Amino acid sequence: MEEYYWDSKIDYLSSTRGLYYNDDYIEFLVKAVWKINTPVHLIDFGCGTGYLGLKLLPLLPKGSMYTGVDAGIKLINRAKEIFKDLPYKTEFIVSDIQNIHLERKYDIAICHAFLLHMPNPTEVLKKMIDCVVDNGRIICFEPHWISNMANYHINGHDQSSLIQLGLLQKLFETDASREGKDGNIGIKIPVYLSQLGIKNIECRVSDKVNFLDPNSELENTSNLFNSLSEDGFGAVPSEHETFIRKLVDRGANHEEARKQYENELLLSKIFKNNIFLTYAPNMKITFGNVDRS
Ligand SMILES: C[S@@+](CC[C@H](N)C(=O)[O-])C[C@H]1O[C@@H](n2cnc3c(N)ncnc32)[C@H](O)[C@@H]1O
Repeated sequence: MEEYYWDSKIDYLSSTRGLYYNDDYIEFLVKAVWKINTPVHLIDFGCGTGYLGLKLLPLLPKGSMYTGVDAGIKLINRAKEIFKDLPYKTEFIVSDIQNIHLERKYDIAICHAFLLHMPNPTEVLKKMIDCVVDNGRIICFEPHWISNMANYHINGHDQSSLIQLGLLQKLFETDASREGKDGNIGIKIPVYLSQLGIKNIECRVSDKVNFLDPNSELENTSNLFNSLSEDGFGAVPSEHETFIRKLVDRGANHEEARKQYENELLLSKIFKNNIFLTYAPNMKITFGNVDRS
């Protein structure tokens, strides 16, 4: 049987999560924005190896509990391994979120880089809301790909020679309308949550701007370079004809596809760990309260 896709992406997940937030920003959200000062039971939809649990549990009041749900058996086994010797209450469930039935008992339903993979994100959001107690909370950390792609700078190169924002904007939109899965979902979640009856909705942006600095310690630059490479940045494009055909199938015209190939090839050649590069992923963090009164 073919391996479940995300079970083969454990290395990708473990080396890219550090691109998004500084730890002090997560602490700021938990303590100053969400003001969580009594123990809570969290449920993480599409938890992977438990990234959010690992970030949040040390900041939450003692006695808090984290439940992670994911379809990946290997991911859940890795999560169990990671948390085995840590002093936190955790529970991991292998299940397809589309089929799972959850009791209404969690204080907070959260997700990270998950809803963009759902063909029916508002139904899944509804499921998140339904499993949260009255006056509970929904928190979604999701990407906004077009602002992500606008947020790269490589010293010595005009951004337009590396990234065609207009084409990407079109591709992201056509992919989303064909498949339902939407890489720009982060910026839309405030609207979806409001339409689903959530109150006090706020949306923030991830704080981290990664800086590849050839003047800093080699270990720092190597780690960041590896994370960016694992994230797919600077990857060598696939064989020319196949690359063009795939892009044209997705809605690019021939000239746009040819230029995209040239851009990606150039990027793959200049992306080394001795360049100056700044990159802000621009994740959107949306949260609000479940008020059934
Ligand atoms: C990009 S990963 C994010 C994982 C984790 N939240 C993180 O940020 O490290 C997307 C996750 O969603 C999970 N997933 C996708 N579709 C799912 C489904 N229908 N049911 C349960 N999990 C699903 C995948 O297995 C994968 O772990």
